[in-house]
Amino acid sequence: MIEEKQHVFYLTTVHTSYWFRVTAHGQLEHLYFGPRQIPQDPAAVAFKHTAQLGSTVAYDESDVSYSLDTLPQEYAGFGRGDFRDSPLIVKMADGTYVSDFVYEKYRIVAGVVPSPTLPYGKASASEADTLIVTLKDQVQDITLTLEYTVFPATDVISRRATLHNHTEQTLVIDKIMSAQWDMPNLDYQVHSFSGGWASEAHHHVQPVEDGTIVLNSLTGASSNRQNPGFLVGEKAATEDTGWAYGVNLFYSGNHESRIQRNNQDFLRIMTGINSQGFHWQLAPNSDFETPSAVLTFSDAGFNGVSHHFHQFVNNHVVPAHFQQRERPVVYNNWEATFFNFNDKKLFELAKQAKDLGVELFVIDDGWFGTRNDDTQGLGDYDVNPKKFRHGLRDFVTQVNALGLQVGLWFEPEMVNEKSRLYADHPDWAVRVPGRQPVLGRHQLVLDLTRPEVRDYIVDNVSRTIDETGISYVKWDMNRHLTDMYSAALTEQAEFNHRYILGLYDVLRRIFNPRPNILLETCSSGGNRFDLGMMTFGPQIWTSDDTDPIERLDIQQGLSYLYPLSTISAHVSSAPHQQTLRDTPLSTRGNVASFGVLGYEMDLNLLTPIERAEIRDQTEFYKKHRALLQFGQFSRHFGRRPGQFLWQVQRGDQAIAGFFQQHVPASPTYDRLPVTGLVANTLYTMDSKPQRLMIDRFGELLKHVTPVKLDPHGRIMTTASRHLSLPDAQEHYVGTGALLATGVLLVNQFMGSGYNKQVRMLGDYGSTLYCIQPAAEAHDD
Ligand code: GLA
Repeated sequence: MIEEKQHVFYLTTVHTSYWFRVTAHGQLEHLYFGPRQIPQDPAAVAFKHTAQLGSTVAYDESDVSYSLDTLPQEYAGFGRGDFRDSPLIVKMADGTYVSDFVYEKYRIVAGVVPSPTLPYGKASASEADTLIVTLKDQVQDITLTLEYTVFPATDVISRRATLHNHTEQTLVIDKIMSAQWDMPNLDYQVHSFSGGWASEAHHHVQPVEDGTIVLNSLTGASSNRQNPGFLVGEKAATEDTGWAYGVNLFYSGNHESRIQRNNQDFLRIMTGINSQGFHWQLAPNSDFETPSAVLTFSDAGFNGVSHHFHQFVNNHVVPAHFQQRERPVVYNNWEATFFNFNDKKLFELAKQAKDLGVELFVIDDGWFGTRNDDTQGLGDYDVNPKKFRHGLRDFVTQVNALGLQVGLWFEPEMVNEKSRLYADHPDWAVRVPGRQPVLGRHQLVLDLTRPEVRDYIVDNVSRTIDETGISYVKWDMNRHLTDMYSAALTEQAEFNHRYILGLYDVLRRIFNPRPNILLETCSSGGNRFDLGMMTFGPQIWTSDDTDPIERLDIQQGLSYLYPLSTISAHVSSAPHQQTLRDTPLSTRGNVASFGVLGYEMDLNLLTPIERAEIRDQTEFYKKHRALLQFGQFSRHFGRRPGQFLWQVQRGDQAIAGFFQQHVPASPTYDRLPVTGLVANTLYTMDSKPQRLMIDRFGELLKHVTPVKLDPHGRIMTTASRHLSLPDAQEHYVGTGALLATGVLLVNQFMGSGYNKQVRMLGDYGSTLYCIQPAAEAHDD
């Protein structure tokens, strides 16, 4: 809800309030962002200007205590006495950079104001309201529009800024952030999610101290180095308590967020397009629109912020067709075959995948042109006739007849020098004339700022989708942007943003008319895991790292910002290709189940007992899929480093997971809370049965079997293909209130013997628990 009273704007969601007002001098003063309040006189929470602070510049001689440097603002100008970072740097028609925007007018509209070029949160007129405030520069004929869309049910406010040039001259924008606000610093810390290839989104925490924390990307993508989303939380906040703010951005290119503390202990927070290497020529009578930023607040800790973000993404970000739509269990051939496959080999894998409970078969890289390794073929779309003797349509039909849908991998933004496309259109590849371009994965980037390049991609991807009858697309992008230049541009520092606008145009034209195609985006894994991409594809290939122990960090990091329905997670073979780590199949399945489950391994090499385990995993997943993909996900405090406690809850059902990266000797007790259930209802909590593969135990098997077995002998080799031990079966009963306090689990193996009530976890062990009302327990 949005109200205005005497130039104070009150934005209210179910649990939060966001207030700002127009000052006597016309600037927008930020007043409050926190727990929900009744709209009222804001004087009590407003920053006080009753004395002049030394070493400041008075905005108006008649009111010397009013300085822009101490005023908490909504969107500061530049060069008028505010010496903090400005969100907007514009070269004006007169060649100066000074700007001073003051209030002109406002209006409120029902719903969302759509953007023709950029992604944004969608909502019906009854689900959101938008406040549009127009500011005008004191001197120049330019206006700045700030839009605030309030999504009350998900406690999210999205913001964006648009600059309008009404002058007769071209302006140059050097920096234009989507949103900025200033607030008192309550001993806050910044939580960011950064890493690199195969190690995306690790959670980092740093205190806000003097100076500025900058979180950004310059790779041309939102990047695996620094996710655009971040949290700012009280130092004392926990997963479930304390104040925390969440910020994210609908943008897939270079981004920049700043958290700056000033000498008055206020924080200035801003986010938007990265201003490094960015200059935008704003022609007379034209506008520049920023991407949308997303803000949320919770006084229920980091889980509170995550719950808001998760609901927002599931209900307002992903394409309407896939909101709350259960996603299929995928098999992807990449880690099994790489480029070395043909229709016969794939069909054999498809038959096995079907038998294991898979629903969608994905043909990854290598089906087209001369793409037999990663040095060639990108840019071409003709199906390789040696790999698919009867064409792709025929193969898809055959796999469909098995009862599986089919998906196909594309990397449309790229070209290899060894390709037909490059031979025909070398000028379509991004490079600076006279400078040798640098390659990434042996490939160049196509110039998506050019309409003819975009048309080529739209035509070819669309035709392939329509002709082959596939129902899923994996859209990959495997190198960073360098050598930024386009013959189509006069201002080369517009390249990065125009590339992203081009990408969005291509995605919109291909997928809007094909709403049934499930789009999974990817960029060497999670190099473009952002809200922008999610508006086109509801799930993202999270990481090329399929080792579940690495995935615990990666998936947990992403869970602060994104729901499980977006996190694509595959079970792969162990030892893992990325780490050489050997992990139990149960843990691979358990970690991938907290996401959109898939498989990516050579199914020919599975033992009968592994097949049985995988069949159980897919059956379990499908039975609980709505809960696992769309339930409310929460993290709990793990007592030891490397312990991960996750849960999803929906209505009266929950699944909790206990994961450990390493086991200490003689481990102390383990505690697993389950929250969100009805306090006085009685629930059962049962561990999901899973197999302990006996080859893991080597000589230790002598403790559980009276028969002496050589761990390397033939009997063991044969036995381990068919036999397994059951893991400990746990059963607990308690009210929702009791389970929330934390269930103390049975002991882990301590080197002192095995019985059926000992959890045999070791390094990399995990267990899932199903929680349901006690009255229903007999149904299972
Ligand atoms: C990237 C993707 C992988 C796979 C390969 C194919 O690395 O992240 O999943 O598709 O490309 O070349």
